[in-house]
Order: sequence, then structure tokens, then C-alpha cells
Amino acid sequence: PIVALVLAGGTGTRLFPASRSTRPKQFLSFDGTQSLLSATVSRADFADHVVVSTRPAFADQIADHAPDADVVVEPAAKDTGPALVYATHRITDLYDDPIVVVLPSDHHVGDGFSEAIARGARVAADTDSLVAFGVDPARPDTGYGYIEPGTEHGDYRDLVAFHEKPDEESATRYVDEGYLWNAGMFAWTPDALFSAARDSPLEPLVDALDDGNSEAGFEAVDPVSIDYAVMERATDAVVVPVHFEWDDLGSWDALARILDADGDGNVSLGGDPTFVDAGDNVVATDGANVSLVGVSDLAVVSWDDEVLVVPKAEAQRVREVVARLKDED
Ligand code: GDD
Ligand code: MG
Repeated sequence: PIVALVLAGGTGTRLFPASRSTRPKQFLSFDGTQSLLSATVSRADFADHVVVSTRPAFADQIADHAPDADVVVEPAAKDTGPALVYATHRITDLYDDPIVVVLPSDHHVGDGFSEAIARGARVAADTDSLVAFGVDPARPDTGYGYIEPGTEHGDYRDLVAFHEKPDEESATRYVDEGYLWNAGMFAWTPDALFSAARDSPLEPLVDALDDGNSEAGFEAVDPVSIDYAVMERATDAVVVPVHFEWDDLGSWDALARILDADGDGNVSLGGDPTFVDAGDNVVATDGANVSLVGVSDLAVVSWDDEVLVVPKAEAQRVREVVARLKDED
């Protein structure tokens, strides 16, 4: 069967202050109807089963957003590398011969998603390779992974190289050279993942899981994302180019791309802000009345008792605020 493995264990620090450690972004709604997590589960209609992967702190909240899914809770929060190895291992206990399709729960996607993902799942079954999904890059964004595609084989291309979150100069070169954005979604058979993970810093975890000792396995590995741990060093990976509308709702500037703007390019979430001689701004609030005068290209967010102001172009740096607040705890 095809098993959709939905990742829902991140903290979403770049969407502070709406996203907080107890209420991360996957549980928030950006369209006024359903949370990002519910939306992700509903669009997994290509799959026979849905499994949600999360960290212990969020385990109790998953059922509110994904009542019909199996939930796999990793023993400790160590980022997506350990989480995905652990969850894929659990899936082999739950289902025979699964093809696993990984879906992050912070995406906005358009028409054609299901067909494209089903195609990737078939490639994973046919080739026994790790399958990444490649999106045409729209700008030299440093928040994404970049894939150098190689020889074409029908539905997929060889994956020549994978570079996670490069600096601006490299990102610009990758866009010029025709690299693809890593969509953050993957398809694999458990064997393909485990053999790649054995050649990675996740090896002690794979071995410990084979011995039935997941706690020790988590103690033996450092936090690391699947992108750095496995994809950057994979020797047997392919990329399926996809063409549906796609965005990662990772930082406040992303709202400007997915919400409808007024005549001056301003977008707002959860309120009716006043704009005087202000253009190309993002305003998000859970109730406060926000007014902007004579400013442009800002993100202004008011949530709970916190206010955040950041130039849209520097929205990735909101994680620095969260790091400081943590230090103060
Ligand atoms: N279970 C679990 N445990 N899930 C986690 C954990 C964890 O410790 N940490 C993060 N996640 C989940 C998040 O909730 C999210 O749904 C998903 O994993 C991806 O995490 P992000 O933090 O959003 O990753 P990213 O956007 O910076 O980068 C990834 O996605 C990009 C595209 O959206 C990478 O794969 C990039 O290469 C890619 O371009
Ligand atoms: Mg993301």
C-alpha cells in the first residue's frame, strides 16, 4: 500500500509569535477553515493509509486535526532525520510492503498535487531509490534545498547533487544553472531509506531499531534533518519534477505569496488593518487593530501579547528572536 507519512513535529519558529512552542504552525489555520495539518491529511487522497509523525510534546494534539490517522510519536525530538527513520520503521510493523510518501504539514499546494505524488510513489516502487520531488525555483531562496537534476528517464531524473539551505550566492548560481527546489516531500521503500541511512550519521539509530531498542537509538544520534543526514549524501536518489503550485508557509513573507493583496500589494490575515500610504506589507493578527503609515515591505504581526516587526526580506531571521527568548528562559 501507499502510506502517507505526514510530518507534524516541528516548532515553526519563523512564524513566531503566532507559532509558539505549545502551538506550532501545523496546528494554525491560514485560510480560516482548517489547520495546516488537517489540510495536509485531507489532500493525501492518493494514499491507502495516513500516519502522522510527531514529537512527544505534541502527541496529544494530533487527534484534533487528524482523527483517522495512525500517530507515531518518536521517543525524543531530534529533527526529521531520526523522526523519519523511526516512523518508517514503525510503518513496516503496521503494513506489508509499504511505499512511504513523506508530506510536511506546512505547505500550500495547487491542482495536480495528487497525480504528481502518486507518480513519485510509483517511481519509488519501481526503482527502489529515494525519490525527491523537484519544483521549479521562483527565486534564490536560502530556506530550501536545491537539487541538481541529471539524465532523464521518463517520469524521473537522476539526482546528481543535493544542497540543503545554501547561502545566497550559491542559491543564485543554482537557480541560474537550472537546479530544482526540494519540495520537502519524499517517496521511498523502507529498504531504500534504511540502506541510505546506514551510510549516514543515522546508522546507530537504524541498528538500534533492528534490535528493538528505539530509546537507545535516539540517544545515540544528534538532531539532524533528513536533508542533511541522508539526502545530501545519497548515492541512489532520483528526482521527480512536479509542476503544481507550491509554497512553504515557513516564514511571514510567504503569506504575501498565497493571500490576495489589496491594490497596494498589502495582505492581511485575521483582521482589517488600516493602510495609509503603505504598500507591499504583510499584517497578521489574532484580534488587534493594526495601522501602517508610510511604510513598505514589512511584516507586522500581533499575536497574544507579542508584537513582531520585520522587513519581509529578512523574515527568515525571526528564528533569531526565538533563540534569544529561549536564552532568557
Ligand atoms: N516528527 C517530527 N519531528 N517532525 C518534524 C520535526 C521533528 O523533530 N522537526 C520538523 N518536523 C516537521 C515540520 O512540522 C514540517 O512539517 C516538516 O517536518 C519540515 O520541517 P521544516 O522546519 O518546515 O523544514 P524546512 O521547510 O526548513 O525545510 C525542508 O522543507 C523545504 C521545503 O518546504 C527541507 O526538506 C528543504 O530541503 C525543503 O526545500
Ligand atoms: Mg517548511
